[in-house]
Amino acid sequence: MSERRALVVGATGQLGPAICRHLRSLGFGLVLAARRPDPLTRLARGLRARALPWDITRDPALLLDLAGPVTLLVNAAVRRPLASDVEDPWSPEGLRRLLEVNAVAPARLVRAFAAQLTEPGLAVLLTEEEPPLSAYAASIAALETMGPALSEGYPLCGVRFVSQTRGPKVNPARTAALVEALVLGLGG
Ligand SMILES: NC(=O)c1ccc[n+]([C@@H]2O[C@H](COP(=O)([O-])OP(=O)(O)OC[C@H]3O[C@@H](n4cnc5c(N)ncnc54)[C@H](OP(=O)(O)O)[C@@H]3O)[C@@H](O)[C@H]2O)c1
Repeated sequence: MSERRALVVGATGQLGPAICRHLRSLGFGLVLAARRPDPLTRLARGLRARALPWDITRDPALLLDLAGPVTLLVNAAVRRPLASDVEDPWSPEGLRRLLEVNAVAPARLVRAFAAQLTEPGLAVLLTEEEPPLSAYAASIAALETMGPALSEGYPLCGVRFVSQTRGPKVNPARTAALVEALVLGLGG
């Protein structure tokens, strides 16, 4: 049987590495993406994975072309307003950036992922449960409202959200286990 392959975007954050390690232990070949090449290359090296330095707002079809066929997509990329941000998140530009990274780009990525499937596949989108009312929360909600409609026209593609509350109880291994439970439903 050929190796199952997964693309993990936002692989280098707080939760991404634990998910990647879990997927590797399940036998997935991994392609990892995030913007900063150094942490990405370090993570990929330890997992015998491919590293693709990538901004999620770029053309998703090109990313999938470079990644090669994958049956699992995990998106853990997120833009959160930082204390150091000078930009008002509710300004047109601030809001546009949040929506672009947290809603528009993941939605386009799922559509491109679904379009390349030739066997059943799954898109897992990490989100945050009950984020404090903010422009950030609005951008998360925008993606969630698209939900399963993201795979419209692509019956081979499942779409699932893994949502947790941010806080001291968040445990990357637990998130990875939630992703694993969904992945096991993929079979193979
Ligand atoms: N950590 C928690 O406590 C927690 C709790 C509940 C839910 N969640 C959810 O889980 C997901 C992951 O959270 P996290 O805490 O792991 O996030 P994080 O630590 O902020 O990491 C974000 C990841 O996304 C990448 N990234 C950011 N902007 C990107 C872009 N434009 N293009 C490509 N990659 C980009 C970052 O790498 P680069 O900067 O190099 O691009 C990094 O790998 C989010 O959806 C979050 O809401 C997290």
